[in-house]
Formats: sequence, C-alpha cells, structure tokens
Amino acid sequence: MIDRELKLYKLKDFRSIKSFFEANEKIFTAAIDLQGDFLEEIKSDPDKYYIDITQWVENLNVHRDLIHNMQGLLNLLPEEVAFLCEDKLADLALDVFRHNFSSSADLDIQIPEEASQTPTQEDVNVVKKLVDLKNEELSDFLEHINKNLIGHKKFKEELAVRLKSFKLFHKLGEQKVFSIFLMGESGIGKTEVGRLMHKALGSQKSLCKISFGNYSSKDSLNSLIGSPRGYMGSETGELPMKIERSDIGIILIDEFEKADNPVFNFFLDLLEEGKFTDSQSNVYDLDGYLIIFTSNLSPENYKKRLSPELRSRFDYVCQFQLLTDKEKKDYMYKRIEVTIKKFEEKLNVTISKEDKAILYSIDYSSLNNLRKINRAIKEKFAEISRAYIS
Ligand SMILES: Nc1ncnc2c1ncn2[C@@H]1O[C@H](COP(=O)(O)OP(=O)(O)O)[C@@H](O)[C@H]1O
Ligand SMILES: [Mg+2]
Repeated sequence: MIDRELKLYKLKDFRSIKSFFEANEKIFTAAIDLQGDFLEEIKSDPDKYYIDITQWVENLNVHRDLIHNMQGLLNLLPEEVAFLCEDKLADLALDVFRHNFSSSADLDIQIPEEASQTPTQEDVNVVKKLVDLKNEELSDFLEHINKNLIGHKKFKEELAVRLKSFKLFHKLGEQKVFSIFLMGESGIGKTEVGRLMHKALGSQKSLCKISFGNYSSKDSLNSLIGSPRGYMGSETGELPMKIERSDIGIILIDEFEKADNPVFNFFLDLLEEGKFTDSQSNVYDLDGYLIIFTSNLSPENYKKRLSPELRSRFDYVCQFQLLTDKEKKDYMYKRIEVTIKKFEEKLNVTISKEDKAILYSIDYSSLNNLRKINRAIKEKFAEISRAYIS
C-alpha cells in the first residue's frame, strides 16, 4: 500500500486554491471525474494532479456500495498524485479511506493576497443602478416606462413613488434592494416591464433574466447558483453568470411560480440579506439592485403557492389587470404603424388605403393576450403582402 497523506483545506479558500492551481498549471479535479482515459492521463503526468475527494466523502451514504471501488481506485493512482479534502470532513475521510491514507495535513500552498479575496461583480464591470440616477435621470427613466408600457396606470404611478422612496432609504442605509412582484394573466406586459427598464437604463449588454418557465423542476437551485463541487454539470450557476454579464442593477425573475421550494427559500434569504452566496462560495452583493418577479398566478393562488414569509419580503406587489379595449386598440395601432413603416421601407412600396383599412380592422376585442394580437397582425400582413411582392 502507498503511504499517502490527505491534504486538508478550508471551504472559504476553495476558489483561491482553484485559481492558484490554475495559475501554476496544476490540474485540480473532483474525484468523481476519475474514469477511463482520465486515469491514463493522470498516470502519464502524476505531479500535476490534485484530486478533491470531498464530494465522495459527502455522498458516502448514497454511494455505500461504491466505497470499495473508490478505495481500489485511489490505490491505482501513482504516489505523486495529491489528494485533498475539505477539513470539516477529515475525520470521516480518514476513517473510510484508512487503507489509503495514513495521515493528514493542512494544504501548504501560499495563497496570493488578491486571489484570496472573493471577486464581486464590481471588479468585472461597472453596474448602472437606479439608486445612482440623478433626479432628472430617474424622471427620464420613468417617462420611458410610462410611454412604452400601455395601460397599467396605477402601477406606473406607484412605481414612481416607490422608486423615489427606495432611492432615499437606500441612501440612508435602510434598504439594500427593492423587490417588485407582478402578477396577472399572460401577455399583458409583466415581462415587458423588465425589458423596458433594461432599455431605459441604456444597457449595452443583455438583461439578467432568469425564466423559471425554462427550468426543469429537478435541481433548479443547482442550475440557478451552480452545482456543488464535483457534481456533473455546470459549476457556475445561471444567476451569477448573468449578473456578471449584465451592466445594470436589475434582475428579472420570470415566471417565479414555476420554481420549487429550495429556490423559494433561496430568494427568501436573498431578499432578506440583499446578497447571496453561490455554490463556489462567492458572495454577490446586490446592494442598490431592483429585483422584479413576474408570475401568472391569480391573487388566490399567489397566497396558496408562496409562504407568508416570502410574500412579506416583496417590497411592492402589484396585480396587473387585463388591458381595456382602448388600450388594446392603442397597442394594435402602434404595432401596425411600425410594421407598415418597416414593410414600406424594406420593399420600397406603398401600402394602399384599402389594405391599411384591412389591417386596422382586425378584431382584437376577444384577444386579451397581446401576443395574440401580434400574431393576428402578422397573419393579416402575410395576406395583404402577396400583392406587393412580385
Ligand atoms: N402593457 C403593454 N404595453 C406594451 N406592450 C405590451 C404590453 N403587454 C404586452 N405587450 C407586448 O406583448 C408581448 C408579451 O408581453 P409580456 O410582457 O412578455 O407578457 P407577460 O405579461 O406574459 O409577461 C411583449 O412582447 C410586448 O411587446
Ligand atoms: Mg412573461
């Protein structure tokens, strides 16, 4: 048997250790990845490899039957390969793998000062936040929303008041983030609020938008903030990744009702603290951020689906009503106008009065979801366009 020492590290150093190894051309990998060709690679250059067995140890109860294989696997690897484990699990690791390791010691690498500091999104880019806007800028911002979001008068009025008070309380150090919960039927402008704000802030990058409609219910927290070390799949979660890529302090959580309980609990903490920690122990401070949640829930189901604790964390809850006939008409006319203009410019034609009349006479009265109005306009355009394309 090889006389090995198990090297121990502290969880808080995990990211620094990882970057230290990367900088020194070492390969730091989870024991779970040990298989097939990889074993051969390790054997050809064993000095290079640092293998983290933490995940194995953490999951021993699930993988009892595999312990014997793991023990055998460790013995297959050359003496030069180093093995690491999180210090908290040292006793358990040394017990289970007592035939593999004769002792343990702290990992002795010099973590460079800057690498040991957790990078935040501010290091990567400057984030434009609503709380930093001057009064005139905030007015312009609100003006853009008022003009482009059709209907929802009450929301627009309240938004103006609430944002101004958020700015104030943030300045006083009383409020870190501002959260809005929008609910209502499909296709009436809930997600559009996030899109419009993104545009109004003049973002050059993409909006940080998480759609729970796209998540499979299993493991959604892992997809959101990354999977723990050694798990298959992405280490970096969608939320930290999108926050880092975005240049504004707005997060849109779309179709929130489709998330599951671990995710609800995650947001409960996030809204309480104004920050969160991802699976790699990076802390993301959301100071000054606006977080918009949208949902198709009815007010009754809102109460059924979300716990009172979670509901009480939202700073502003607003129920979006169906648009009135007049508002739907405004929307439809605006869409038709824009489309006619595009059509005429692109094809260098003029749409006749009769055809315009056909377009404007689309019956929107039964269409409450504006996506359906959009579709009806497209279909009508396809119909009349034939005459113009030769
Ligand atoms: N109130 C509104 N003002 C302007 N556009 C709207 C409004 N409601 C819906 N739309 C348009 O309809 C589409 C669907 O709206 P969206 O906000 O995504 O719906 P949902 O309420 O389901 O989130 C958007 O692309 C947007 O162009
Ligand atoms: Mg939506």
